[in-house]
Amino acid sequence: MAQKFRKIGVLTSGGDAPGMSAAVRAVTRAANARGVQVMGIIGGYRGMIHDEMIELPNREVSNKIMLSGTFLYSDRCLEFKEEEGMQKAIATLKKHDIDGVIAIGGDGTFRGAPDLTNHGIPSIGLPGTIDNDITATDNTIGFDTAMNTVIELVDKLRDTCESHARCNVVEVMGRGAGWLTLRGGIAGAADVILIPEIPYDIDKVIDKIEERDANGSKFTIIAVAEGAISKEDAKLSKKEYKEKMKNYKYPSVSYEVAAKIQEKTGREVRVTVPGHMQRGGSPCPYDRVFASRLGAEAGKLILKDEYGFMVGYKNREIVKVPLEDVAGKLKMIDPDASIIKEAKLLGICFGD
Ligand code: F6P
Repeated sequence: MAQKFRKIGVLTSGGDAPGMSAAVRAVTRAANARGVQVMGIIGGYRGMIHDEMIELPNREVSNKIMLSGTFLYSDRCLEFKEEEGMQKAIATLKKHDIDGVIAIGGDGTFRGAPDLTNHGIPSIGLPGTIDNDITATDNTIGFDTAMNTVIELVDKLRDTCESHARCNVVEVMGRGAGWLTLRGGIAGAADVILIPEIPYDIDKVIDKIEERDANGSKFTIIAVAEGAISKEDAKLSKKEYKEKMKNYKYPSVSYEVAAKIQEKTGREVRVTVPGHMQRGGSPCPYDRVFASRLGAEAGKLILKDEYGFMVGYKNREIVKVPLEDVAGKLKMIDPDASIIKEAKLLGICFGD
């Protein structure tokens, strides 16, 4: 079979995730082993537009598997969404004789990849985001490491929360979907988990706090996803919600949850927002292996002259899914999923 790809570009884009560097390493090794040259595109699609590239022979990806962040840098590039930006990007790729692109990132990254394909540059996507919200894959590069970070934080929070018999609210990343909050919350033994997929009623949260109090547990850990929403707000139309948010008086939803508990119960509530710390750290063993497997598969697809796919992981198998079936489709938690039912059996309150 004719080998179409002689030289590919690899980039990381969107919010960085532990394991992205490991994925770049794997793609590079797999491609180089098949005689395909690799260029690292710096700063995601921005580097494509502004011609920032480095050559990636095998020796350049030594000592990269354990790196945090991404050594190719990342960006959310608005310019790439404009036709002018796209044309500049295509011109850069042509100038370097790049026949195809492997893009590692989240949903925003995958929205860009089919556009490239439509402009004659075939692309392959690898899911890299701590949010685990990419459709058609059970896992994303960086999610497991981020979960470990969340668990460590919640464990530490519990120490002081218990000593002071307080309520502690911890805000976990995830605007559109609550995967990190759900799994991190279960593993960190949070008492309340609030996620975008299950709008909450603050009175139900307070009932849980009081139930714990009555049972002798004087402290409560509440894990709140960035995108958690109250039942009241979930009923608003998009326009009404936008209007309401113009006058929003809290820094973020976790402060709102804390303030309401404090107002209604007079209890002392503290808020912790670990923020971007959740994206840092050296990738855990799972993410190193996962990134390596996906990268190797991407290399295989190149050899087979196959593109237009995201390489993902479904039901314990590496799969390839057409990029157009992935881009723009967030993977949300099903409120009726068995994991939610099991968590409820353990006494975790979702505020519903
Ligand atoms: O990469 C995903 C993510 O970390 C989300 O969980 C979070 O909502 C968002 O990125 C934050 O983006 P930024 O780094 O642009 O503030």
